[in-house]
Amino acid sequence: MAQEILNDLSHYHLDLEKKYGAHDYHPLPVVLAKGEGVYLWDVNGKKYYDFLSSYSAVNQGHCHPKLVELIKEQAEILTLTSRAFHNNKLGEYMEYATKLFGYDQLLPMNTGAEGVETSIKISRKWGYLKKRVEDNKAKIIVCDNNFHGRTTTVISFSSHAGSKDYFGPHTPGFIHIPHNDLNALENILAKEKNVVSFLVEPIQGEAGVVVPDDNYIKGVRELCTKYNILMIADEIQTGLGRTGSLLACGDVRPDILILAKALSGGTYPISAVLCDSEIMEVIQPGQHGSTYGGNPFAASIAKKSLEILIEEKLPENAKKLGEIFRSKINDYIKTSNIVKLVRGKGLLNAIVIDDHSESQTAWNICLKLRDNGLLAKPTQGNIIRFAPPLVMTEDQLNECIEIITSTLVDFEK
Ligand SMILES: Cc1ncc(COP(=O)(O)O)c(C=O)c1O
Repeated sequence: MAQEILNDLSHYHLDLEKKYGAHDYHPLPVVLAKGEGVYLWDVNGKKYYDFLSSYSAVNQGHCHPKLVELIKEQAEILTLTSRAFHNNKLGEYMEYATKLFGYDQLLPMNTGAEGVETSIKISRKWGYLKKRVEDNKAKIIVCDNNFHGRTTTVISFSSHAGSKDYFGPHTPGFIHIPHNDLNALENILAKEKNVVSFLVEPIQGEAGVVVPDDNYIKGVRELCTKYNILMIADEIQTGLGRTGSLLACGDVRPDILILAKALSGGTYPISAVLCDSEIMEVIQPGQHGSTYGGNPFAASIAKKSLEILIEEKLPENAKKLGEIFRSKINDYIKTSNIVKLVRGKGLLNAIVIDDHSESQTAWNICLKLRDNGLLAKPTQGNIIRFAPPLVMTEDQLNECIEIITSTLVDFEK
């Protein structure tokens, strides 16, 4: 760690977290105190470009003025009613979101993992009631190296030992296949009875921004239709403009869509599951929900967050800037022996460092990037994810590329 930038104020906060907090994360040592648009400031006043966007939650930029205004306003009027009663914000949000994404209905939750849990419950119940699979035998197909969150059921089908070991007994009913492998999907569907759904990330974010072949998502759709199972798209990280379109699935329409993260522009935990009525109707009163899900505060924030994406053409900006980013990093790679490749879509990108996955190189590069004024984080050891807020301008992006490439130069062998 470059100690020189950590003065006493940073140490004060780092020590408090270390002493009083669970050590369930391994954060880059920087203590942030302020954010605006694409920028963050630490407790010492040093300014950084945010190149992670809280894992794609801050697509609209930090403290978007329209969200701040709305939050202040709504906080003074009404925040939580619970779903014991109706509120005057939820219906309008549901109408806006369902029309925007082209589904009949929306079920509101809080975190991404809860959205995934919701989709599992809906698809299982749909399987029993509509597809008539055998009682308690429903199976859901998932992908190797998936990341769908941290709840007990969701980690039951993780491929990552650290997420899963010693947390058993695990929830049964999940079958793994490789991502980006239509043959594997068809083989399972042809032989397994009782499959109700296929849960897939259109691009695997945590796995290191792994982009499947162009025809993959379309092929998934066709196979799900052919074998009468529900296609569930986890667009928690890829959705809401991040990959250069509103959804990474593009023209392909999943049966169940899960959204979270940027659904609040980074201001509040909000998730949603969308599908048509013939699927959603399997959930009846008392069978699913959450005290905070669909509260008027969240509903007004989510509607505004979606409006901002559309009004400010953030998906289009992500597409344009993503192309510039990959092209310039590819130019750098031509003469690099430390960066193996850059991959991604829109403004969800990653570089793969030419080193083994337990090496410290990517971490050390991120420390140096921090010192040079840009915050990013390794994933899977030797991969660095680059995902700035989508409100970035081309000039700002060019400045960031300059910071990244000049930092990488110091690590060339
Ligand atoms: C694809 C995907 N699904 C689910 C989740 C879980 O979301 P949350 O952390 O809000 O529970 C994440 C979080 O990173 C994610 O990237």
